[in-house]
Amino acid sequence: MKTEIDFCGIKMKNPVTVASGTFGYGRGHSEFIDLNKLGAIITKGTSLKPKTGNKPPRICETDSGMMNCIGLENPGLDYFMEVDLPWLKKFDTPIIVNCFGGTEGTVEAYVEICKVLNTLPIDGVEINLSCPNVKAGCLAFGTTYEGVKEITTACRKVLTSKPLIVKLTPNVTDITLPAKGAEDAGADGISLINTLTAMKIDIEKRKPILSINTGGLSGPAIKPVAVRMVYQASHAVKIPVMGLGGIMNGDDAIEFMLAGAKCISMGSANLVDPESSIKAIAGIEDYMKRHNIEDINSIIGAVEMN
Ligand SMILES: Cc1cc2nc3c(=O)[nH]c(=O)nc-3n(C[C@H](O)[C@H](O)[C@H](O)COP(=O)(O)O)c2cc1C
Repeated sequence: MKTEIDFCGIKMKNPVTVASGTFGYGRGHSEFIDLNKLGAIITKGTSLKPKTGNKPPRICETDSGMMNCIGLENPGLDYFMEVDLPWLKKFDTPIIVNCFGGTEGTVEAYVEICKVLNTLPIDGVEINLSCPNVKAGCLAFGTTYEGVKEITTACRKVLTSKPLIVKLTPNVTDITLPAKGAEDAGADGISLINTLTAMKIDIEKRKPILSINTGGLSGPAIKPVAVRMVYQASHAVKIPVMGLGGIMNGDDAIEFMLAGAKCISMGSANLVDPESSIKAIAGIEDYMKRHNIEDINSIIGAVEMN
């Protein structure tokens, strides 16, 4: 059975990656799983300078999911380069660094971090144009064709030696527009979806639960929305799509691949069961055996519409 995937030139042993912000830089999860087994590791969202997050409460459960407003807290790129990157390099697994433009969130700030990432021994860069939880919002760029095209063009100019993946927000009316913006600007791939903007209210206190009132909804609750958007986006562009949003197991991963995803990413699942990504790889292999599939690539976009 062939489970290898080539995503934008990144050679993965299998289509399963772990989503930004739910796996840190891998150390915690490495106590539970063998990181060598993953298709790729996507790091926590990283900015040039260290960034503090929002104040608590910044996480809560919902029916079939969770909400967060972490606010892209991270130790900064220098710390990543000195401490986490050398550690991650011990594993035989591609490293994709998820980045954003710090507290400024400007085009220039994205360009500055991409310039440095271009020089590092990493396998790809994912630019986050889709976080709903920071004020100087990357979301400002992420919702329109023009905005995505502008920032992707600027990052592409300096990111000459690494695959560039643009992470899109579902908080739009038509997902094909930002997807085309990324493609037209020269991105190598897109990933979707990030979280859906949501609110939960404590009815006794008559106040929202999360400190900044709203947060990003993730987990199984958003999966049908994500599958629909992956289907639409993958039919609108020629560059490959990484699908995510509520994937908990191998069957969910297969569903995204049938919809058109070339590889998948698991986020909230890592917080429920640290072994979920490894179990999903086994689940994909089990599906392949049951359906006599020799090459996982053969199911990408293979859904037959009614
Ligand atoms: C606690 C938490 C932190 C996250 N941090 C980031 C981040 O730093 N950068 C990013 O692009 N996405 C971030 N995300 C979004 C996830 O990578 C993913 O797109 C989203 O949660 C949907 O996938 P899921 O339903 O499998 O969790 C975060 C999600 C969660 C739950």
